Amino acid sequence: MIWSIVLAAGSGTRYGRLVPKQYEGLRGRRLVDWSLDAAAEASDGVVLVVAGEYREQAEDTADIVTTGGSTRAESVRRGLAHVPADAEVVIVHDAARPLATAALFAAVAAQISEGADAAVPGIPVTDTIKRVSAGIVRETVERSELAAVQTPQAFRAEVLRRAHAAGADATDDAALVEALGAEVVVVPGETANLKITHPHDLLVAEAVLDEGGRS
Ligand code: CTP
Ligand code: MG
Repeated sequence: MIWSIVLAAGSGTRYGRLVPKQYEGLRGRRLVDWSLDAAAEASDGVVLVVAGEYREQAEDTADIVTTGGSTRAESVRRGLAHVPADAEVVIVHDAARPLATAALFAAVAAQISEGADAAVPGIPVTDTIKRVSAGIVRETVERSELAAVQTPQAFRAEVLRRAHAAGADATDDAALVEALGAEVVVVPGETANLKITHPHDLLVAEAVLDEGGRS
């Protein structure tokens, strides 16, 4: 069985609006609904993790709705606690990435079925990336070795549970799995699968849909 955890318990500080960004509308549906639909299509069950004040909203697409924590990693742990013990694969997805396709969920999950412990979508980085401290460039990182990593990220359930057991923090779940020494496979990501972070990202998402939808 494949279960997905959709994370929607953030406050969207960088987005800077009163209502968290995952409740913004895109083509008449909230970002969280886009994410839930893709997750539901690709999995046997979906746990939605929301902030306490959104707990009472009916979410038809989610099988289980629970309350998140103060960090993304803590929200994942709260969601993971509700994933049934017989789920072999767990996919973690940010509600803030509404344009991820069900095919991308399936692609990362397939890697686990084929024996991987973890699989993430990655796309080549287009900016030149420099390591900077105190306002000074310390190093230019070799771009050909870099990947911008997205969600959905798929894991062997037992590995994800182990990665989160110590209660550590990280910006994605793969980093915690890497810390265990496990191998993380990279599959081709989707350039349209942008993360809505600032208000202008929503304009880009609308333009992507104008151009022909999720891809
Ligand atoms: N998230 C969560 N619980 C948290 C923090 C984040 O479920 N305590 C979720 C967000 O709702 C989002 C995803 O994790 O779908 C990725 O986080 P991010 O894009 O950073 O969203 P926010 O934390 O809400 O935004 P910001 O960092 O600008 O405050
Ligand atoms: Mg955040």
